[in-house]
Amino acid sequence: MVTHEFEKFESPFKGRSLLSWISWTPEEILQMLDYSFLVKAQAKNGEIHQRFLGKTIALIFEKRSMRTRCSFETAFGEEGGHPVFLSSSDIHLESKESTEDSARVMGRMFNAIEFRGFSQKTCEKLAKFSGVPVINGLTDEYHPTQVLGDIMTLKENFGTLNGLKLSFVGDGRNNVARSLMIICSKLGIDFNIITPKELFPSEEIVHICKPFAEKSGAKIHISEEISLVKDSNSIYTDVWASMGEENIKETRIKMLSSYQVNDKLMKMTENEKCIFMHCLPAIKGEEVTYDVIEGPQSRVWDQAENRKHTIKAIMLALIK
Ligand code: CP
Ligand code: NVA
Repeated sequence: MVTHEFEKFESPFKGRSLLSWISWTPEEILQMLDYSFLVKAQAKNGEIHQRFLGKTIALIFEKRSMRTRCSFETAFGEEGGHPVFLSSSDIHLESKESTEDSARVMGRMFNAIEFRGFSQKTCEKLAKFSGVPVINGLTDEYHPTQVLGDIMTLKENFGTLNGLKLSFVGDGRNNVARSLMIICSKLGIDFNIITPKELFPSEEIVHICKPFAEKSGAKIHISEEISLVKDSNSIYTDVWASMGEENIKETRIKMLSSYQVNDKLMKMTENEKCIFMHCLPAIKGEEVTYDVIEGPQSRVWDQAENRKHTIKAIMLALIK
């Protein structure tokens, strides 16, 4: 028998799934952040590692993606692993075959599964029935890999997360806003959602985050008032209609046009060092003006790059 000495990445999280950050402690999230900085430093040093040699990951995409797919695919491949892209038109998931059955078979063929799609329930079922780590690459409810990259970007900019205030201005009910609320309340980052009343986040997510914020000391505010952006370290926005909501786009434009992130709103922070963030893709002229996203306060390209480092770190930490 031929055996090989495979390069190992030690982590206490091997075998675990990342469906959202809800079940992760602040210390565990910070550990993931440390791994991300390590992986980024290794990439900048030009180091080549083969830590996924002989491993496979299924990348399931019901919705479109550029950053997330490319991060998973390139990060896994450059570490010697074999990623397999499966769009919903390629596989039977929830059409001809139940998710439970697809999950059980994929668990026999892959070391891990990434899922981007509509229902968080599908993601949960994949984790329950596959027996391998499942990583949520975005659902209607959560986008956990995105917000780890965002926290990394904040830490790179400010050197610390302590005392920071992040204001999300836009659709307060969406996956990115909800995930930011979770990670900020866990990590003690003050967090505002500024949005019209109709788009206030659900009671359910507020209820979930309340004890996290009480424990960390994060102040969470949800308001229609744009003046709340004062003293923010970062203004964050996202598209006004998420994937799957294309049919209500016109209504959203009407609801949110006064919440556009423009020069006037950035000045209302009264903080020249305030940075602008966006998960991308962005629709310039809708949720953000061309001047702001292309201006000196914008950090959106760093955020996009950090998707890859954080996703590599997450995969290294979870995959056995
Ligand atoms: N931010 C993000 O998830 O981008 P993609 O939709 O391109 O993956
Ligand atoms: N809220 C957006 C995020 C895209 C990365 C969407 O779900 O379409």
